[in-house]
Amino acid sequence: MTREELKAAAMSMLDRAYCPYSHFPVGAALECEDGTVFTGCNVENAAYPAGICAERNAISHAVAEGHTHFRCIVIAGRGEDFCAPCGICRQVMREFAPDLEVVCLNGAGEETVFTLPDLLPYSFGPESLD
Ligand code: THU
Repeated sequence: MTREELKAAAMSMLDRAYCPYSHFPVGAALECEDGTVFTGCNVENAAYPAGICAERNAISHAVAEGHTHFRCIVIAGRGEDFCAPCGICRQVMREFAPDLEVVCLNGAGEETVFTLPDLLPYSFGPESLD
């Protein structure tokens, strides 16, 4: 899948977002090392903390299908600002892909690109437990 296709996959998930409380849809497309792509959207809940972000939804989807090596994640929002991943999502990305490329989109489809170490420096990961 090309970068533009991966971006389109993330943006297409905006329509699947279940966000009746925040009215803030987020879509994500996660590219695995082998090229497989998993998508996700945020899914909120009347008990607010039970909601899940788009990124963790995509990562959980991938892990449940047996994929744990990731190359890139695209995160799409509809706002003016680039949609940055929350802290919990950054930590979940860190578990599987310490050097993940993170592409954040705004509502116009413009991108800004980070690496996970940019977003989560001096991080705690599986090897920290050794
Ligand atoms: N949200 C995400 O899906 N990803 C993020 O990293 C930022 C926040 C969702 C959670 C909630 O459903 C809504 O955006 C507002 O916070």
